[in-house]
Amino acid sequence: MPTTPLPSAAVADDVSSDGSFDMVSDKNVKEFNAQIGTQYDVAPFNADSLTPFLDLEDSTWMVIPSGGKSFPLVLSHVANNLLDDAWHRSFELNEKGSGGGCKDKCGGKKKKKEKKEGVSCLVGLGFHRFTWTDTSGATTELQCLRQQIGEPVGTNCGAVRMENLVLFKSGRAQENVLKAYVDQLITASEATDKNTFTIFHWHVKYQYWQRNQTVRARPLDSVILPRATKDRLTKDIDDFVSEDTEDFYFQHGIPYKRSYLFYGLPGSGKTSLIQAIAGHYARNLCFLQPTHPEMTDDSLRAAVNDAPQDSIIVLEDIDALFDKDRNQKVRASPLTFSGLLNALDGVGNPQGQIFVLTTNFREQLDSALIRNGRVDLHVEFARATGEQMADMFTAFFPQSEVDSQVPHEFAMALQGALGEREVSTAALQHYFVTQRTSTPEEAIANVGLVVEAIEERAMEQKVQDEKKVEKQAEAGDVKGKAGKSGGTGKRRKARGKSGHDGGGGGGGQAIHVHVHTDGGGSTNSGAEEEEEEEEE
Ligand SMILES: Nc1ncnc2c1ncn2[C@@H]1O[C@H](COP(=O)(O)OP(=O)(O)O)[C@@H](O)[C@H]1O
Ligand SMILES: [Mg+2]
Repeated sequence: MPTTPLPSAAVADDVSSDGSFDMVSDKNVKEFNAQIGTQYDVAPFNADSLTPFLDLEDSTWMVIPSGGKSFPLVLSHVANNLLDDAWHRSFELNEKGSGGGCKDKCGGKKKKKEKKEGVSCLVGLGFHRFTWTDTSGATTELQCLRQQIGEPVGTNCGAVRMENLVLFKSGRAQENVLKAYVDQLITASEATDKNTFTIFHWHVKYQYWQRNQTVRARPLDSVILPRATKDRLTKDIDDFVSEDTEDFYFQHGIPYKRSYLFYGLPGSGKTSLIQAIAGHYARNLCFLQPTHPEMTDDSLRAAVNDAPQDSIIVLEDIDALFDKDRNQKVRASPLTFSGLLNALDGVGNPQGQIFVLTTNFREQLDSALIRNGRVDLHVEFARATGEQMADMFTAFFPQSEVDSQVPHEFAMALQGALGEREVSTAALQHYFVTQRTSTPEEAIANVGLVVEAIEERAMEQKVQDEKKVEKQAEAGDVKGKAGKSGGTGKRRKARGKSGHDGGGGGGGQAIHVHVHTDGGGSTNSGAEEEEEEEEE
């Protein structure tokens, strides 16, 4: 959209004789402002094209840049509250459903299968009139211009034009009304509800928490843990969120936050428990990806300070960042160890913040990261115990249908079949899914299948490991040869040697693999974080 050019001479003439505001009087400020939006390029929109719709002389406007968290919220709200539905014709389809918290006409919440919000409508380019009802119930008319400005520029996502929104309210000095409107949208998008939770991801580039989706939470009871472990954790959180505790922290000047470390086997329910806790305690889930190559110390601190209210900040696979000696594992990452510690200490972050760190390898973490005060409670997730086997059996074959002794019989039968072998709760869940049409008695009789599945997986793993070792050996060979003929041979040989000493087979580099067993109940973040890294 072209804007009215601003002749620099015109400013000088109209503002003051020597081109500056050396005599700022009410009169010349008024005169200057009177011309904004009608004559000069100092208006953030093409004033001429808006004159038929708005009395710019008697309006207040506020620009919302496209990178911020309020941008999609306003687009969604406007689309759902247009003043005259029939008149408007410019919309944009929002396939990710990340627009905002509105139950809109185009993609309203579904009754069943609520996992995905589906598509929704955002308001498109152009000028729109809409209404806003504030918390007192009063309705106000506002206007919104969505515009693109300037020439396309090349970005990582292709050629884009700069885009923004301009909100208008009739009358002068109405900025508080516009601010209250945006505040209300942000607050609504962060509102929590028992049994559902909203997932946010930190947008590293634009530095804000991007709202991804609202998900129905799994019940806390559906995550089967040793009862003592779960009781200890829920008591701890109950205690932390109580008013007395908040007062205590406040009185003693201690930052009011609590951090948990969930550590142990993959597929033992760490991510599932985080989701269940979010639902149970009506908290938002904020996933941080500290391994992102653009995640700096400042960005991490901003993420913690800016977390939506009532949230749990989750740092999954915290071992992926630094080893026990604080060496960086992700070469591209600008994050420092002390930056990570500072963020976790959460100085200046919202009061009452809960952090959950997860790892499959607690022994690989530097002790400073998980010392008392920084991590308040360590929760172990181990192989399935007899108690968990029986409880999971009960969950899939509810007590009302079977004798109370039957779950114990199942646990005994399974433990007998397993012998020394270990089974994860994820593998156990998989077994119960395969047995969903069986009777309880059949599920007990079939426990041999659990062992068969474990052995099959072990075989597959063995083959994979052997292939990996072969590949590393080949790579080592190639490197060795290249080293002999190349100028940097000395360094390469030295590397190969230390790899051989430490690796105990193949002479390659140590490989650190994160395996995520995902039975289908996990969130996006769980699925997208499968990664494999090499460390020297
Ligand atoms: N303790 C458990 N109770 C109930 N379900 C579990 C448990 N452990 C694993 N699962 C199931 O296994 C799958 C993977 O679990 P997840 O929570 O992602 O494990 P982790 O985060 O420890 O790797 C999920 O579908 C989950 O429902
Ligand atoms: Mg997990």
